[in-house]
Amino acid sequence: MSIDLQAPDYVRNAEALAWIQEVVNLCQPDAIHWCDGSQEEYDSLCQEMVEKGTFKRLNPEKRPNSFLALSDPGDVARVEDKTYICSRRKQDAGPTNNWMDPKEMKGILNKLFHGCMKGRTLYVVPFSMGPLGSNIAQIGIEISDSAYVAVNMRIMTRMGKKVFDILGEDGEFVPCLHSVGMPLADGQADVMWPCNNQEKYIVHFPEERAIWSYGSGYGGNALLGKKCFALRIASAMGQDEGWLAEHMLIMGIESPDQKKTYVGAAFPSACGKTNFAMLIPPPSFLEKGWKVTTIGDDIAWLKRGEDGKLYAINPEAGYFGVAPGTSYGSNPNAMDSIRSNSIFTNVALTPDGDVWWEGMTEEEPAELTDWQGQAWTPGCGRKAAHPNARFTAPAHQCPSVDPEWENPQGVPISAFIFGGRRATAVPLIYQAFNWNFGVYLAATIGSETTAAAQGASIGLVRRDPMAMLPFCGYHMGDYFNHWLEMGRNTPNPPRIFCVNWFRKGPNGEFLWPGFGENMRVLKWVVERVRGKAYGIESPLGWMPKYEDLDWEGLDFSREQFNEVMSVNREMWKEEVLSHQSLFDKLYDRLPKEFLLMRELLLSSLWRSPERWRMADERYVDISH
Ligand code: OXD
Ligand code: MN
Repeated sequence: MSIDLQAPDYVRNAEALAWIQEVVNLCQPDAIHWCDGSQEEYDSLCQEMVEKGTFKRLNPEKRPNSFLALSDPGDVARVEDKTYICSRRKQDAGPTNNWMDPKEMKGILNKLFHGCMKGRTLYVVPFSMGPLGSNIAQIGIEISDSAYVAVNMRIMTRMGKKVFDILGEDGEFVPCLHSVGMPLADGQADVMWPCNNQEKYIVHFPEERAIWSYGSGYGGNALLGKKCFALRIASAMGQDEGWLAEHMLIMGIESPDQKKTYVGAAFPSACGKTNFAMLIPPPSFLEKGWKVTTIGDDIAWLKRGEDGKLYAINPEAGYFGVAPGTSYGSNPNAMDSIRSNSIFTNVALTPDGDVWWEGMTEEEPAELTDWQGQAWTPGCGRKAAHPNARFTAPAHQCPSVDPEWENPQGVPISAFIFGGRRATAVPLIYQAFNWNFGVYLAATIGSETTAAAQGASIGLVRRDPMAMLPFCGYHMGDYFNHWLEMGRNTPNPPRIFCVNWFRKGPNGEFLWPGFGENMRVLKWVVERVRGKAYGIESPLGWMPKYEDLDWEGLDFSREQFNEVMSVNREMWKEEVLSHQSLFDKLYDRLPKEFLLMRELLLSSLWRSPERWRMADERYVDISH
């Protein structure tokens, strides 16, 4: 039996109507809700969730128009082992992605989705990734049986009726199908956080440009515009069409002469991207007129402009940030962004109806309700908030939001910055000699998986090329080739830099203060791309001397700088050798250039002193 869609008049896209009808017939919901994206709709969906127990309204005096949701303890994060790239050929997904034959996968999914929305409402959520009508933006339609998804998508994307207006009769869209995977039998009571802990599947069909997600209601598993569309599907689109979809924040840096430089920066998950995107410069920089503005904190889409530069948009419209660790000390702009109109998931509740998480305040509250709804007191041995607890907040609420953040043309990007979390080996800042070498450096960034033994070894490093390992929708070797190709076709590409904020000393202490002080490094980056700063040549690239960084207001000695910039030859030989295990995995599609660059790097390391840093405009041996 086919259920009547009762589509609003403004839905005129035949393909969309046919797909939605097909999904309705398969999933058999009790009701259909076409999201128009209005404030009234948002308010009433939130109120319905309050009545059902999924949402708790926070104290309107402390946190106006904001809500708390607590998830099922089995549904708290992205599920990488259940995430698939189902290209027609296995080799096109590559060895770093899970793969299954698309026909076989569709067989599994069709069974799972059959009747999966019984007893529930199906929400049709039309959305644009990127400013409506931008030539860099893309349209998606998410069908979901979760009202939590519908309201989060309203914050994270441009969502609602106006998307159908742009789609018109024959516009293209990416179909995104999502179910929590928990149909309700007649009379069966619902739970606070429906999901399916037996079966979860997050599946991408890159050739068909379609997403099917089953069994989870959490974050990137369920808000399909984000990781699934804006990175995995979009990266595959970008490869076909000559653009880039990257796991990058975008920020603007305004210098005292009021010139703006935009940079994109990629760091693996949990390296403080949101903090960096919203950085507040140290007082001495603010006094001189330096300013940092935010375009995005997680994803960038980049296309070549007429002038030969790369232009970037943030495809998202909100922040889905990790709450624990966020405080007025670490990120005042994020704290101000979430003062109202925000959704909190898996954080703790204070007795007066506000939220709290580890690291938010120096002193822990005397009592709380934790993320599992249990009474919590300091020292009880449990975390009050889940470590992956999140806030969802509208981007326009960020005090540092850049005036150009919704410019449909995007902003011109002058530099890319790549970094990982490395306790040893990797210096604070260096600039690649050229595009190809930069692509090599970006492809080999990584983070330590264990605390590395100081001085002796580089430790166990998980390579996370361009911070895209969990997010690239095709073969990583092809992805490197695509980056090289982008460089060949972009007359004025961004300059490529690498940073490491996380270097540690012999006693495990951080050698670099990080946070706002990263501005000192950013200033050098800006001056380099404007041709206004010196760099001296090292085997890893161009590096600043102590004198090249602005130290006003920070007590950071030449010795400390030398330590955080130092490069140990033996460790780097180990580092370069360990690049090989990534390359071996990708061997059949690895760019030839990479093998040559690896050799070049090795040979320049052999020629350099054992342990060196720059001084007097050259490298000196500091081995002894
Ligand atoms: C994220 C991630 O949630 O990178 O942004 O994991
Ligand atoms: Mn991310």
